[in-house]
Amino acid sequence: MRCFQSGIKKKEVFIYLVKSDVMEEEIKQKYIKAGKVAAEARNYGVSLAKPGIKLLDLAEAIERKIEELGGRPAFPVNLSLNSHAAHYTPHKNDPITLKEEDYLKIDVGVHIDGYIGDTAVTVRPAGKDELIKCSEKMLEEALKLFVPGEKLSHIGEVIENVTKEFGFNPIRNLTGHGLERFSVHSPPGVMNIKNNSPHTLKEGEVFGVEPFCTNGSGRVKDTSTTLIYGFIQNKPIRSPEGRKILEIIKGFNGLPFAKRWIERYISPIKTSMILKQLSDLGALHPYPVLKEVSDGNVAQTEHSVIVSEKPIVTTKI
Ligand code: CO
Repeated sequence: MRCFQSGIKKKEVFIYLVKSDVMEEEIKQKYIKAGKVAAEARNYGVSLAKPGIKLLDLAEAIERKIEELGGRPAFPVNLSLNSHAAHYTPHKNDPITLKEEDYLKIDVGVHIDGYIGDTAVTVRPAGKDELIKCSEKMLEEALKLFVPGEKLSHIGEVIENVTKEFGFNPIRNLTGHGLERFSVHSPPGVMNIKNNSPHTLKEGEVFGVEPFCTNGSGRVKDTSTTLIYGFIQNKPIRSPEGRKILEIIKGFNGLPFAKRWIERYISPIKTSMILKQLSDLGALHPYPVLKEVSDGNVAQTEHSVIVSEKPIVTTKI
């Protein structure tokens, strides 16, 4: 009897192992698909980013493209200009247009069944300059190191050294991040400076690697503008609009969402009021627009990578 049971157990273990290998390959393929869609949507955005285009039209076009290609936005398209480093996404009546000398960061996130591709590029209609080249080189050098056994502390040092060679500063308080199912910012962070992270990379870990460089002093601070929010927990709210907003938000699976997405259903004034109320209640996490403290211009380049002997960059096409 015992013997028989243990025989079955062995069989179960065997079946389980085979199954889990299949799942892993399935998950990897979802990361790869999400990365490819994000890359195509990003490149489409670059092709549209000409002087005079409204940021609002650009954001909506990129988000439409993501859906056309079979993905879902993992967060609102971030279109941050110049000293705004991140977290700007247009609102419903946003009048801002792209200008010749602007540094426009197009940061795109896509998920397939929760598995995320996150990628960004800096566009400057007047031409790519040293600041943009610096952020590209920071990323290029970092990506080579996403192999098992490498340390995040070393990667930060390599990124910082590239910035020094160019004579710019890395943004010290912005980091890349782990990617997990339905989670855009999982630990550990990938710092853009020399650091003491004890983390050693393991096969199959997934990261969004996003060095930022600036001709300013190298720090960002919150502004008073918030256009992106994340869901934390349900809270009772009385107004029908408030309840409707919570209903809409549930559809985003805990991923960050744009004020603009809510403004499709509820007036901008009401939306602002309720999002603030829900943030104060602790139901939402606000992601304010981040600005370089000394008003320096900021360039960002980002890819998503799966740690492997030969790193798999999912957002390169
Ligand atoms: Co990212």
